[in-house]
Amino acid sequence: MGKTVGIDDMAAYLPKLYVDAEELAKERNIPPSKITKGLGLEKLAIPDAHEDAATMAAMATLELMEKNDLSPKDIDFIEIATETSPDASKPISCYVQGMLEQIYGRGSFDHVGAPETKFACVGATYALIDRLAYIASGWNKAEYSIVVATDIARYRLNSSGEPTQGAAAIALLLKENPRLLAYEPEFTGFGTIDDRDFFRPVESKTAVVDGQYSIGCYLRDMRIAADAYKRNMVKLGVLKSLRESVVEKINLAAFHTPFPKMAQYAFASFLIHDWRSLPKWKKIIEKIGPEPSREGLSDVEFYISEEYKNFRRKFMKTEEFQSEYKSKIENSLIALRQIGNSYTASVWLGVESHFETRNDDLAGKRFGIGSYGSGSSAIVCSFIVQPEYKEVVKKMDLMRKLDERQRIPIDVYEDLHEGRLKLHESVIPPKNEFALVSFGNKSYDCGYRYYRYIT
Ligand code: CAA
Repeated sequence: MGKTVGIDDMAAYLPKLYVDAEELAKERNIPPSKITKGLGLEKLAIPDAHEDAATMAAMATLELMEKNDLSPKDIDFIEIATETSPDASKPISCYVQGMLEQIYGRGSFDHVGAPETKFACVGATYALIDRLAYIASGWNKAEYSIVVATDIARYRLNSSGEPTQGAAAIALLLKENPRLLAYEPEFTGFGTIDDRDFFRPVESKTAVVDGQYSIGCYLRDMRIAADAYKRNMVKLGVLKSLRESVVEKINLAAFHTPFPKMAQYAFASFLIHDWRSLPKWKKIIEKIGPEPSREGLSDVEFYISEEYKNFRRKFMKTEEFQSEYKSKIENSLIALRQIGNSYTASVWLGVESHFETRNDDLAGKRFGIGSYGSGSSAIVCSFIVQPEYKEVVKKMDLMRKLDERQRIPIDVYEDLHEGRLKLHESVIPPKNEFALVSFGNKSYDCGYRYYRYIT
């Protein structure tokens, strides 16, 4: 038996601005219900002119350190996962280190390791596993490591991806014997396929996405990873055979959520796959009809076929699905409906949303994670909620932050989206926060980002 390692605490950062999803729909001549009900989104978080993925990550890390009374010498690594890094060479983590040293003193973090990790939206989960393995190996020199997920999800104006934008960061504090979530490394399953569902060429500020295809890739990779997770459970005797249900072993879960309906698609597809060999499946298909045939279709073609989507819609209306969904997934989406996509941060914000909105006792429960990144890869893994988790949850305040934001009109959102506001023209001028204040314009620093903590 190795060391128990995991997540000790988390701190989220949200931009203070948002766009109302209904208002955006009306402006784009889309029925508002398509976004609010069809995609499940109410508000989209929008970064101000002085913000980028680095300032958001620094803000989340600062809050995490302050609320846990940590000093730089307590920290071994600051590893940041993002797919919207402002620089193609310098890691965002080093920019963040520099910002933190404005608070803690120049050179105060010179002992840390500070890499950047990239794998689209699954990057933070990869970074987390790497760092936890490092702590479990005993190679760490300080008690804590921090992994930060930070991203700005941005698509072209008027594109079908536009209603699924958003932005956020979340910093995760990792250590041995954590107070919140203990990792179960032995079950972790991966599913990776070289694909082209979503990418962002380095010269572009917005992603290129094949929307429906990306949904199929998400479901395919998640199934591969879930199968691997289940096989590991069988190998270790938690399940007797592959015919048993893995979902029954998981008490609550969060999925990568580009838009809340996607988490519902994912969970429904998970259950359909998991329940197919159980006695109760017969009763379900008596009610909704048989699952369509896959013959002649690739996995992705099958998942995005009208036949499968119709079958899944019917399944999602059954009381069997509804009761599992309400007890295991629904709370993760309470915050995510009001944020939109935040790529790497999304699944971890879903975890915090569960913790802040559930009143039942979660101690000892198995918390499942379904993390997906385009390109493409999924990770299915799990944690056990620790007995002292309530003490940690008391100091979480994502829900308060959601309530304290300012709504911006569509023309202001478009100005921000298109970079028409200068760094000093923020909608809410920065106060007690890190801000991007200028870009270098000399031959030796052209394009370099200068950040300052503004009091
Ligand atoms: N009222 C209510 N619901 C409506 C409606 C209306 N008037 N009109 C449509 N809907 C429903 C549809 O029925 C559908 O729901 P069901 O599947 O439950 O029936 C839902 O709204 C969505 O409709 P469409 O699939 O037709 O939506 P779309 O194709 O126009 O766009 C999208 C959806 C593909 C996700 C698009 O927003 C997009 O490209 N987003 C960016 C890519 C993305 O998020 N992909 C997700 C997987 S990839 C990933 O996860 C990585 C990542 O973060 C990007």
